[in-house]
Amino acid sequence: MLPRLSLLLLVISLFTRCKSDQLPTSWTVQSPGQKVTAHVFLNADGQAAYQILFGDKTVIDTSLLGFSFEGQLPLAGGLMVKSAENIAFSEPWETVWGEDRMVENNYHELALGLEEIAAPKRQFRVVFRIYDDGIGFRYEFPEQEGLSSVRISEENTEFKLTGDPITWWQPGDWDIYEHLYNTTRFSEIDAIAKRDHPNLAQSYIPNNAVNTPVTMKTDDGIYLSFHEAALYNYSGMTLLVDKDNLKWTSCLVGGPNKYKVIVQTPFTTPWRTIQIADKPGDLIESKLIVNLNEPNKIKNTDWIKPTKYVGIWWEMHLGMSSWDMAGAHHGATTENAKRYIDFAAANNIPAILVEGWNTGWEVWWGAARETCFDFVTPYADYDIEEVIRYGKEKGVALIAHHETASGVEQYEKQLDTAFQYLEKLGVHAVKTGYVGTIFPKGNYHHGQYMVNHYQHVVEVAAQHQVMVDAHEPIKDTGIRRTWPNFMAREGLRGQEFDAWSNDMNPPEHLVIVPFTRMLAGPIDYTPGIFDLKFDKYKDKNQVNTTLAKQLALYVTIYSPLQMAADLPENYAGHPALQFIRDVAVDWDESHVLNAEIGDYLTIVRKERGADRWFLGSITDENPRAFSIPIDFLPEGKTYEATIYADGPDAHWDKNPTSYTIENKPFKKGDTLELKLAPGGGTAIYFRPVE
Ligand code: NOJ
Ligand code: CA
Repeated sequence: MLPRLSLLLLVISLFTRCKSDQLPTSWTVQSPGQKVTAHVFLNADGQAAYQILFGDKTVIDTSLLGFSFEGQLPLAGGLMVKSAENIAFSEPWETVWGEDRMVENNYHELALGLEEIAAPKRQFRVVFRIYDDGIGFRYEFPEQEGLSSVRISEENTEFKLTGDPITWWQPGDWDIYEHLYNTTRFSEIDAIAKRDHPNLAQSYIPNNAVNTPVTMKTDDGIYLSFHEAALYNYSGMTLLVDKDNLKWTSCLVGGPNKYKVIVQTPFTTPWRTIQIADKPGDLIESKLIVNLNEPNKIKNTDWIKPTKYVGIWWEMHLGMSSWDMAGAHHGATTENAKRYIDFAAANNIPAILVEGWNTGWEVWWGAARETCFDFVTPYADYDIEEVIRYGKEKGVALIAHHETASGVEQYEKQLDTAFQYLEKLGVHAVKTGYVGTIFPKGNYHHGQYMVNHYQHVVEVAAQHQVMVDAHEPIKDTGIRRTWPNFMAREGLRGQEFDAWSNDMNPPEHLVIVPFTRMLAGPIDYTPGIFDLKFDKYKDKNQVNTTLAKQLALYVTIYSPLQMAADLPENYAGHPALQFIRDVAVDWDESHVLNAEIGDYLTIVRKERGADRWFLGSITDENPRAFSIPIDFLPEGKTYEATIYADGPDAHWDKNPTSYTIENKPFKKGDTLELKLAPGGGTAIYFRPVE
């Protein structure tokens, strides 16, 4: 696709053009719509620094940039500016799938070439891209004499706050993002206190740092979210809390070595990102993270298809059946798979996930974890070819499952064979899993070794035309733009916690996640539980939402893969299943209609390529009433809406399954009145009246 305006090289015309040794040491760049301003400069010590303004408010005060290395002096002060380039870029691009069909990518870029004045005279560039919805910046190290292999012991990037904002944060765990979010002032963050993970022994939280995306609200009502984009061949970044100076400092995830990252010049770091908005919903609509990634590298994308799916899955989480065949009730039998396929076919659900289909599950939790799994040998009671044949006949595709138990070396050895097997079977989707600590030992899920592994899997999968849904993943950093077969990830406390955790997801979880984890990318949350109490199987556990809120999640949580997670029998007799039959998974446009972090969220989306609209509205433990102006529907047409609302007596704990279904016409200019129960929600399907 050609840039719409141009790739305008305004080489320094905005600034004074001077000889390189006389270049100014301070630069100012504004976003195309003048909302965001960056000052980038060398301080008195010759160290690179920046400040960010939103309108006329400073949101990031003087923050330093630099590195510490193993076996080399740190890269900090003593720099001079060797070059400066300014670029205005504007190019819309089309998504293969997503929240919106078209994305505007408009930014102003400043690239400063820096060099140490004294030996070792190392060179690098800092590149800032300024958007109306935030900024991204990264370091670029060119090939140069005396700097080839670089061992980074720490990246010292600062983000200096201008106050003590409310912060929605989770501890900076190096292994797992399956933590609840905390809401405190920045100065009250205590990640160490959260070190004891209630369910996952491998949790490793070395210091008072948080994982990203981490989102904040300043006392001026400005929303900031810190994250990264295009994380390749590098470690994930956590943010260290410096309470005395009210600033974040980057803290990379480590591994078995003294250094945290090893790279060869030339290399670039991931983009360090700050999304900035005056409305929380604008964070959700922001395209900063995907815009900072490279365009799609997969030429033929015909096989990449967003889908709803059912699964032999929840029954294992409830303890009704087992993953392994040794158990009395093996879930993944040919017969059971056919039962789910029949249900899916009858309900407009085009895919089925089958877990526990391959040998190894007897010992996956034990000492043999490292090597137990085999990705080409089904259990004797599971005829995979027959399941695929039967599914094909009924229009239901198989989603394969690769639980690695974090035996990463073992998985890599089998990777080609495993994906050739899927290709031979005609399977185009796999869910991967990385439960437990990583083998080889000393590595963490979010360190450089694993970042490279997850990426390798996605690229091998692409060669074999397979879509990936990763559980226990590295966080998303917008790679879906470049590798659109990387569909969704877990990377949060999904709904499965409600089945077995002694610390279930509270009602407010789902009104924090869209403003934190979801800013990274699509989420495989597994909504659609109708039997919310499941006392028959687990009397101490339950899902802490109403049934109508479960429906609304298909709209408020974005994913191109959406599960109808409950057991087929639990949908029986529920007219609300019709919403799951109807709801789309791919969109032309998405709009946040109202939002407050931790309180409520309403989103409307238009189905891709169809004149059908879906609205989801959810609340925390408080009931809410909203008057929503219908300004999203096109002019001059009447739409029939089917409204799935909480019953008048509904309550996430006391009466979660009370709901009403009502049909009503709407047109542009009307007002929609919504009433959400405590822990509740509303889901609406609008289609044009013929
Ligand atoms: C954890 C995953 O999140 C879950 O979805 C899966 O069923 C189990 N691991 C087993 O692989
Ligand atoms: Ca998990």
